[in-house]
Amino acid sequence: MLDLTGKNALVTGIANNKSIAWGIAQQLHKAGANIGVTYLPDEKGRMEKKVGELVQPLNPSLFLPCNVQDDAQIDATFAAVKEKWGHIDILIHSLAFAHKEDLSGDFSKVSRSGFQVALDVSTYSLIRLAQAAKPLFRPGGSIVTLTYLGGVRVIPNYNIMGVAKAALEMSVRYLAAEFGPQNVRVNAISAGPIRTLASSAVGGILDMIHHVEKVAPLRRTVTQIEVGNAAAFLCSDLASGITGQILYVDAGYEIMGMTPPSS
Ligand SMILES: NC(=O)c1ccc[n+]([C@@H]2O[C@H](COP(=O)([O-])OP(=O)(O)OC[C@H]3O[C@@H](n4cnc5c(N)ncnc54)[C@H](O)[C@@H]3O)[C@@H](O)[C@H]2O)c1
Repeated sequence: MLDLTGKNALVTGIANNKSIAWGIAQQLHKAGANIGVTYLPDEKGRMEKKVGELVQPLNPSLFLPCNVQDDAQIDATFAAVKEKWGHIDILIHSLAFAHKEDLSGDFSKVSRSGFQVALDVSTYSLIRLAQAAKPLFRPGGSIVTLTYLGGVRVIPNYNIMGVAKAALEMSVRYLAAEFGPQNVRVNAISAGPIRTLASSAVGGILDMIHHVEKVAPLRRTVTQIEVGNAAAFLCSDLASGITGQILYVDAGYEIMGMTPPSS
């Protein structure tokens, strides 16, 4: 049975009720996990208020600001985890960022700073969060991050984020090899396209979704809750033998080599 009772789960990346992280947090909570939430702080405190109200039904025992570009905020987050929980069992990394101008048009026009910010927020953050969480992980723990097919194949406009996701997927394998001996597993979910704040920055996201709805074996794309279910599975003892993997939750789109004749 999928049971996360007694497990402490820190969820990053909730911005609103469309966020994949929100789907994940709900399903972890439903499976019995004790939830902690981090949000990206802003000067006016808008995210704190908005995300705070959204996650209230999950009774988070931790609610913390954490801009992953700021080492001090990351360290403060895990100091709070240590103080409040003593240990951690689940870390959800569900965040990414690239400048909008780097998510359309020619890939080669990306600037050095555009490359750096995309890889820093979307890729290095997984490594840095894992580093900070490492001493607090109990055996049986699990890290899950979110990736996309554009890190493996060329998808129009995904551009620099594809490079960030390729590096993220390789980071999952290196982290899995490092954390395995302490019985902590590290996996990624490669989700199909879903309308969210982040995905709306990618040029032509709606066309991508419509294409998937025509071509994927299930003739639709996926929901945040479906991704949340897969994350809950990966974080549970049911997945105790799985690490270093990329699990596609994409209505089967990834297997297709040709558009079906009917579409
Ligand atoms: N939506 C999709 O189609 C799709 C598909 C596959 C993978 N993903 C991945 O899922 C993850 C979540 O994205 P989403 O689609 O739910 O969008 P979202 O906009 O809801 O979530 C992105 C999150 O990243 C956070 N973030 C950005 N910069 C940050 C920083 N410096 N510090 C801390 N947090 C920061 C934002 O606050 C937000 O909560 C991302 O890694 C994304 O690439 C999305």
